[in-house]
Amino acid sequence: MAARPRILLQLDTDDQPSSFDAVVAIDSGVDHLLSYPRVRPDNVEPLIHGGMFTRGPDSLHGTAVFIGGSQVDVGEEILDKVLATFFGPLRMSVMVDGNGSNTTAAAAVVAAGRHVQWPETTALVLGGTGPVGSRIAQLLVHEGAQVLLGSRSLDRAQKSIERLVAKLGPDVRQRVRPAIATEEQAWRQQVDQAGAVFACGAAGVQLLSSDLLQQATHLRVAVDLNAVPPAGLEGIEPIDFGVQRGDRFDYGALGVGGLKMKIHRRALASLFEANDRVLNTQSIYELGLQLGAEATHSGS
Ligand SMILES: NC(=O)c1ccc[n+]([C@@H]2O[C@H](COP(=O)([O-])OP(=O)(O)OC[C@H]3O[C@@H](n4cnc5c(N)ncnc54)[C@H](OP(=O)(O)O)[C@@H]3O)[C@@H](O)[C@H]2O)c1
Repeated sequence: MAARPRILLQLDTDDQPSSFDAVVAIDSGVDHLLSYPRVRPDNVEPLIHGGMFTRGPDSLHGTAVFIGGSQVDVGEEILDKVLATFFGPLRMSVMVDGNGSNTTAAAAVVAAGRHVQWPETTALVLGGTGPVGSRIAQLLVHEGAQVLLGSRSLDRAQKSIERLVAKLGPDVRQRVRPAIATEEQAWRQQVDQAGAVFACGAAGVQLLSSDLLQQATHLRVAVDLNAVPPAGLEGIEPIDFGVQRGDRFDYGALGVGGLKMKIHRRALASLFEANDRVLNTQSIYELGLQLGAEATHSGS
């Protein structure tokens, strides 16, 4: 029998399913993309049943689920509901990547990890309360780093830390501390302690000046994820990908974005290799590490 076409159910939390996610899906080899808007934990079950009950268990690796959209926390609740809907061999592979938060966090940590040993590193995550920053913090804790979770608000930082505790357990409290400042100069003390800094603030907001970065003698790697001028970290160009400036290696938003796209495409393609893959923050990062290792071995 000819191979069945690859079908992806794109479940999006927004009124309009993301065109970005749709294009990447088609570029990753999806034959038929079925896009659904306004998906919620309480309306997802019939969509999943439609996927589970139409192809036999031997063919279910040809149908997969992608959960996206701007309501990133709702996307994670949808993932829980999708997994609870499966039973026996009737399951499909699933990936969750609301607003690109998991693939972007994975790319940022894989890139920075080329220059530091995480268990020996203190990492400052500016904008650590947002979807991308909180996932970077999660990956860094898992890698054994000490994390300073940056925010303008102690309350928001503590809530983010509690979300990490709920995901990873109480040891998180020994690994992550809030770092609070509302003015750039007030970050100096935290930047001075850091071996790695990630700028994950809102688009178009400069968080640190080049003067402050240059004075940070321990800093070995700086990653800026903001592609909208001005840069989040002054002096880092959006296209930087491991550009050395003194003792520091710099990554800009477009440089990291190239790796993010590779991880996103690889993750989508891998959904169709089996019917039981669950691609979340951690497993997408592990795919990113594999990609990084392959690039090193092939010399690219
Ligand atoms: N390169 C890529 O491929 C890629 C992909 C996705 C996203 N991104 C970029 O990654 C960054 C993070 O994304 P996100 O969705 O997590 O961002 P976000 O939710 O818009 O913002 C992240 C955090 O920034 C802080 N913030 C907001 N306004 C600020 C201001 N005026 N000054 C200082 N801090 C401010 C907030 O933290 P507090 O209120 O707690 O201070 C917020 O939680 C964005 O710049 C986004 O454009 C890049």
